[in-house]
Order: sequence, then C-alpha cells, then structure tokens
Amino acid sequence: MTRTILVTNALPYANGPIHLGHLLGYIQADIWVRFQRMRGHVCHYVCADDAHGTPIMLKAQAEGISPEELIQRIWEEHKADFADFLIEFDNYHTTHSPENRELSELIYTRLRDNGHIVSRPVMQMYDPEAKMFLPDRYIKGTCPQCKTPDQYGDNCEACGMTYSPAELIDPVSVVTGATPVEKESLQYFFKLSDFEDWLRQWVSPEHMEAEVANKVQEWFEDGLRDWDISRDAPYFGFEIPDVPGKYFYVWLDAPIGYMASFKNYCERAGIDFDGFWQPDSQAELVHFIGKDIIRFHCLFWPAILRGSGFRVPSWISVNGFLTVNGQKMSKSRGTFIMARTYLQHLNPEYLRYYFAAKLSSGVDDLDLNLTDFVQRVNADLVGKLVNIASRCAGFINKRFDGRLSTSLAAPALFQEFATAAEPIAELYERREYARAMRRIMELADRANQYIDEVKPWVVAKQAGQEQQLQEICTMGLHLFRQLLVYIKPVVPRLARQAEEFLGVAPLSWKDAAQPLLDHVINPYQPLLTRVDPKAVEAMVEASKETIGDQAADNTKASDMEPIAPEIEYDDFAKIDLRIARIVKAEHVEDADKLLKLTLDLGGAQRQVFAGIKSAYQPEQLEGKLTVMVANLKPRKMRFGVSEGMVLAAGPGGKDIWLLEPHPGAQPGMRVT
Ligand code: 2FM
Ligand code: ZN
Repeated sequence: MTRTILVTNALPYANGPIHLGHLLGYIQADIWVRFQRMRGHVCHYVCADDAHGTPIMLKAQAEGISPEELIQRIWEEHKADFADFLIEFDNYHTTHSPENRELSELIYTRLRDNGHIVSRPVMQMYDPEAKMFLPDRYIKGTCPQCKTPDQYGDNCEACGMTYSPAELIDPVSVVTGATPVEKESLQYFFKLSDFEDWLRQWVSPEHMEAEVANKVQEWFEDGLRDWDISRDAPYFGFEIPDVPGKYFYVWLDAPIGYMASFKNYCERAGIDFDGFWQPDSQAELVHFIGKDIIRFHCLFWPAILRGSGFRVPSWISVNGFLTVNGQKMSKSRGTFIMARTYLQHLNPEYLRYYFAAKLSSGVDDLDLNLTDFVQRVNADLVGKLVNIASRCAGFINKRFDGRLSTSLAAPALFQEFATAAEPIAELYERREYARAMRRIMELADRANQYIDEVKPWVVAKQAGQEQQLQEICTMGLHLFRQLLVYIKPVVPRLARQAEEFLGVAPLSWKDAAQPLLDHVINPYQPLLTRVDPKAVEAMVEASKETIGDQAADNTKASDMEPIAPEIEYDDFAKIDLRIARIVKAEHVEDADKLLKLTLDLGGAQRQVFAGIKSAYQPEQLEGKLTVMVANLKPRKMRFGVSEGMVLAAGPGGKDIWLLEPHPGAQPGMRVT
C-alpha cells in the first residue's frame, strides 16, 4: 500500500546561522524521507524559518535594518546551507508569510470560538526606556540564592535555582541597561487543560518513542497550566485579530508554520491541502524535533490542532543533542562548527554518514568525535564500500568494453544480499540508522571477502579465463549496486555518481532484487576521496573564536561546566595541597593518556600517573614545579600504584595546563 506522508523538521530561528548541532535533526529526517521515497511512498518534506519574536526584532534593530530585511538574508543563508548538505526539502518557507498569517488567524479564531482562549491581566517586567515588556532572558541580575551576579531572569547558571525575574537582586534590562519595573498587561491564554483527558491517551508509544511518552506523562502530574499565547507591542509577529497591540507569541505561529509551508507547496504542486488536514485523513504527519522542544510538540501542538478541528500528528520523532569530542560544542575549542565552515573544508556526505552510523531512535546525545569521524568514514565508505567498485570496474571497462556478463558467478550470494533488503528497510523505518549502517558494512565486508577469494587480478592473468573474469567482476559490481541501494538515503550524491557509472536510472529499493546482466557500464571515476585529517584540523581552527568574541555574544548560555554540589569547609580542609618538583617524567608503555611522574616533596617522593600525555612531552616537565594532592589514598592502576594527583586545568587534548606555582616556591610547601 502506498503511504502519503508529510515530514517536517523543527523550524530554525531566523537570527543566526545553521551549525552542526542543528544538522543532526535535519540529516536524520532527510534520510528518512529519501528512504520512504525509494520505497515508493509519497513523502512531502517541508520546513521554514521561524521568523518571529523578540530576539529577531532586537537583532534587526542592532543591525540597523528592518526585521523583514534580516529574515530575508538569513532565509537565503539557511536555504543554501541545507541544500549544500543535500537536505532536499520540497519547500523551505518562512513563518512570516501570508499563508501562516491566514492559518494562525483561522486557528486562533476557531480556538476562541470553541471556548479554549481566556484572557486575564498579568504582572510582567517592563523596560521603561525601551517601552517594552521583557522576556525573562532579557533581564539579568544577581541570583537571589547564591548571589552570583549576571544571571538571567529565569534561572541561575551557577546554582541552578529557577525563579521569576522579579526575584533577581538589582535586575537590569539587557536591552537598555535600565532597571525594569513591574507592569500589568492583559494576556491571552490557551486552555491546555481542556485537552488533558485526550492528551493523556494520545501521549503514548503509538505516537512517540516510549521514553518520550513517559517523560511527557510525568508533566501531567504537575497539572497542565494555561499557556500564554500573546505578547505586547512592540513585537515582530502577527497581530491577534480583534486585539490591537497584541501579537501571537512566536511559539503559537511557529508550528502552524509547518502547515503554512505545506500549503504554499500544495498550491504550487496541485496537492489537496484541505484533505490532508481533515481529522480523519489517512495521510501521515511526522515531525522531527530536538529534545528541547518536546513540550511544544507533544502537548501544545496536538491540543491546538485538535481544538481547531484539524488532524493531529502521527508521530513525533525526537533526537538528542550533539556533542563534539565528548563535550558541549565550544567556540573557544573550535567545536562550535557552522554548517558553512564545515562545507568550506569537508564533503557533506562524510557527516551524513557519520551521523547515520551513530543515530538510533532514542533521545541520547550523539558525540561527533573528530578522530573517530576520520577513521570511520575512511574505513567504511572509502575502504569498504567504494573499494568494491574500484576493484572490479577496471577489468570490465578495459577487457569487456564495459559490458557485464550474461550470468552471475555467485547467484546465492546475490540472493543473500537481496534478502537483506527487508530487515534493513525495517531499521530505516524505525530510525535505527546505526544498526542499518552496521548491517550494510557487514555486507560490504562480505563482498570484499568474496573478491579476495575469487582474486580477479589473478584470473586476469590466466589465459582462457575471460568469461570467468567477466562473471566475477560482474558479481562484485552487483554486490556494490545492492549496497548502494541500501545506503543511498544517507549518501545521495555518491549514489547518483555511482548510478551514472553503472549507467542505470535512479535506484529504488526494489532494484536490490533485480540483476543487471549484459548491461554496459561507464568508465569508472573515483567516487569518494578519503577524509583528510588536516582538513578537519583546519575546520576546527577556522571555528575558533577568541575569548573577546565569546563575551560579546551574550545571548548564549556560557559553556562553563556546571559547578559541583556545595561542600563544607571541613571537606576542603582535608585536602593537603603541596608544592612538588617533577624530578622525573616518563612514558608508560601501552598507556594512551598517562605519563608517570616522580614528584619530590622536599623530603618525600611520590609516584603519580597523570593523564596529561596529550599535552606534554616528558622532557618538558622534568625540573618543573607543580601542585599536588599529597594525601590522596594510593590507588592501584593497571600500570602501577598512583600516590596522589597533580592539578591541571583545561578542556582536554593539547589544551591541558599543569598548575605552575611561582618559581620561588619550595617543594613541600603547603598550598592554602
Ligand atoms: O527551538 C527552535 O529553534 C524553534 N525555532 C523551533 C520551532 S519548531 C516549530 F514549532 F516551528
Ligand atoms: Zn544562584
């Protein structure tokens, strides 16, 4: 049965560039869409820029341009970034569109007429200079609990307390620096609780992964509060019908932007938009989102659709965050990598494959380890997959004018590969891409093993073995083509080049079961080059920002590691910190990270294994002073007993710095 599916990705805000963290979700969805299309289903794929809200209004002001100009520029950048990462939307629209205005007004009016909207006065922080109400993130002050200065109006990054901006000590407006005042204003609320009974049953593994459903179910326990969907002027958005001076909150019209983008596309492509959104529509609606916006998509959005008489989503697919080299992306480390910076150095299909090789249906964070990235792509895509074609193509081209044989050398092996089609499809369907990639690479190993066994390069030298040579190389290319079918959603450009080389029409899933005999292929051109680790280094270097740039970017949470729970003074006083001289520093055989240090405490000596090998050569260290924890209980490690710890700081890798006291300090001195 042919399915009709509308797939969406979360709409990126129109106030900044796309980075690799964004791309995880887009690549995940794009792979799913391409897979569905290869299976013969009708799959529409739309997205848009999320163009409204205070940050966009203020950014435009700061740049001295209109919000319309800003969102136009960002829209063009986003569109180009997605296209260059081979993310193939049918439509990339904007929420600041006539379709979205019309649909937002329609939905609001229906909700209002159905009794799901209430209004009441609310006290809010107001900037008397800018003459505007301030979102929590635009107020800063001192945390009322731990007294850390410079904290946002909603929560403290130092102690984690959540509060209302009115509770901050010495609050200031981020916009003007003025002291905000409390001011009352009438706000409009969506009565989410009207949908509680329905949502309780809708939020289930039928519409999202069980772990997501469980999380959302917990929120019912706190009670479903009314949701404020209005904002006061000045605001960049749509004015609420019949309520002059009030605007829809950006999060109301953002998901409606999915519908609006689709509507814009339907009108162009002649698709029945209204039929799709009927409550009894048989078509599927699948949203791909990140785990930070579950509440909007699993509670508010389905309730809004239901309350306004539209069909609700079929599935909400949630992905985790991206970390790079095991840590949150960081501008100072050069791991906050923009899509464009990546593209200036590397092929987008490397990243598409790496993400696929690590993605599951779960919400766990995914780590882009840059060393592993180089190895994995080179080993799998170049070393295993493309290698199969390059090992067989030359003989077919040179010895047989590009013509494949009329029968296969190993039909059973072809069959074995063909029967993998359904299990692999099942994995794609369930978004278990990592498992799909593993299965495909197992098959690639099997194909290479076959070629190793039949040794075409030996057969080629034997007289009278022409037919055999043609058959085994044809066989190798058949296996390559089957693998290509399975991996095509992930690496569409590589697949297109390979289709040209094979002289075939765009491959669909069914082709994996069809042999391609007595067929003429084209000359082989290398399909993919290896990832150059130097290009990765250059990309990281180009992504590095100085501390100054980082401080200037005050709209982002700092990436400082959270501070550990408080300890008593007595706990601290137990630690005996001493100046120590490194008298000897040695490599440890088989240890990747450790150096063995012999430390002199001015009387006693200690042996310590320190994880600083990535940053220091032993000879740099000998003679230096450092600080050590002298009373740590000795610990038996694989390489020997470690009798203390040296103090160092830094994010890791080359960036680790041993603490160095003033050269006048004496070994054995206590550090207080
Ligand atoms: O969190 C975000 O980046 C939002 N711009 C996502 C919006 S998704 C949808 F609801 F529009
Ligand atoms: Zn605090």
